[in-house]
Amino acid sequence: MQDKSNDLNKEYLSINIDIKRTLHNKELEIIAALEKKFSNKDFFFKLEDSKVNFFLKSINLQDFKEFVNHLLKKYDTESKHSKLFHDIISKIENIKSYGIKSGKRIYVTYNQERKVQNRKKKILQRGSFFYAQDNEFTKEVNVLPDKFLNKIICADSLEILKQLPNNCIDLVFTSPPYNFGLGYDTTEDGIDWEKYFEKLFDIFKECIRVVKFGGRIIVNIQPLYSDYIPSHHIISNFFIKNKLIWKAEILWEKHNYNCKYTAWGSWKSPSNPYMKYTWEYLEVFCKGEMKKEGKKENIDITGDEFKKWVVAQWSIAPERNMKKYGHPAMFPEELVRRTLKLFSYKNDIILDPFNGAGTTTLVAKKLGRNFLGIDISKKYCEIAKKRLKLPKTLEKFYSN
Ligand SMILES: C[S@@+](CC[C@H](N)C(=O)[O-])C[C@H]1O[C@@H](n2cnc3c(N)ncnc32)[C@H](O)[C@@H]1O
Repeated sequence: MQDKSNDLNKEYLSINIDIKRTLHNKELEIIAALEKKFSNKDFFFKLEDSKVNFFLKSINLQDFKEFVNHLLKKYDTESKHSKLFHDIISKIENIKSYGIKSGKRIYVTYNQERKVQNRKKKILQRGSFFYAQDNEFTKEVNVLPDKFLNKIICADSLEILKQLPNNCIDLVFTSPPYNFGLGYDTTEDGIDWEKYFEKLFDIFKECIRVVKFGGRIIVNIQPLYSDYIPSHHIISNFFIKNKLIWKAEILWEKHNYNCKYTAWGSWKSPSNPYMKYTWEYLEVFCKGEMKKEGKKENIDITGDEFKKWVVAQWSIAPERNMKKYGHPAMFPEELVRRTLKLFSYKNDIILDPFNGAGTTTLVAKKLGRNFLGIDISKKYCEIAKKRLKLPKTLEKFYSN
């Protein structure tokens, strides 16, 4: 049982365990060794008869666990005596509210700098996600028919998506054609902007319909340097108007990829400086709610990956093999890997309605996700299918 209401209440959080017997010598030695190894400013024990009170302020849980295991081995502790320490660890692990500083979890006063009083009440008053309220999304879940499961389909996305039931996809990750004349295989990339957005939004409306409640739509968009159309704002606005919750914006830093030219705009004059962008965006939206339910055993992101990737600036070089695959605007695999591990679970169904040379579907397969990839170009679909044929050994490696 944890409570914060004893004498040391303000400075420490207490974990109280009644072992209903006196402590064994080995337990006492382990406690003494723990107190010797770690600072009593971080935590300390107070023992009263059969009660063990553990006062906790901060801890490096990994170090603590490793040292406890080492001591349990050293003292060759029987399970009835090691139970106390396992119970303490499990109680610490179950404390959900803490801050992190210099590798330690901080359990008290970590949120003191927050100046907002009654934060929850105020959020309720303001109405969080006000633009996404009164949506009519249902929580039904439908099965993606077999003919679409783990398939690459060559067609106009709009036509295929219309055949899918509502709420059958966990996550959409895609990069639409940018409409500045990239010279794709079949599509005319460089049409009237109004027509471009009309078609794009028809496809995105279908994406919203087929995504499950709690599912995500993640769109990679480049800040446009030609025509001065801020498509990342226009597209984000579209999703917000359609009642999705805007969850995040990831800045994909591409290592100065687009920065080599100097011949645009004014030179050394404020008359018309030309701004260069070395990044693109990933806009992340949620349907219905931010939290996506999933089984614990289907989480495959590691602690280190999580820590690094929640910092929303990802430095990833562009795909270097575009010539080899004959596609002018491919995702690098690393971008998809991070996105899928951070925002989806193993066995989820991932859709890319502009699948191109199939990077999303390839990485989904490698990571043990299901997928559906659609592209209008037969040539790109053939490449995407070829890329899916992984050697068996590699398949095993990636799905673990
Ligand atoms: C930016 S690329 C996507 C590249 C992909 N992310 C990859 O890693 O290869 C956009 C793709 O959209 C496809 N496309 C354009 N209009 C389409 C439509 N109506 N339906 C399906 N695909 C379409 C193009 O053929 C192009 O391959």
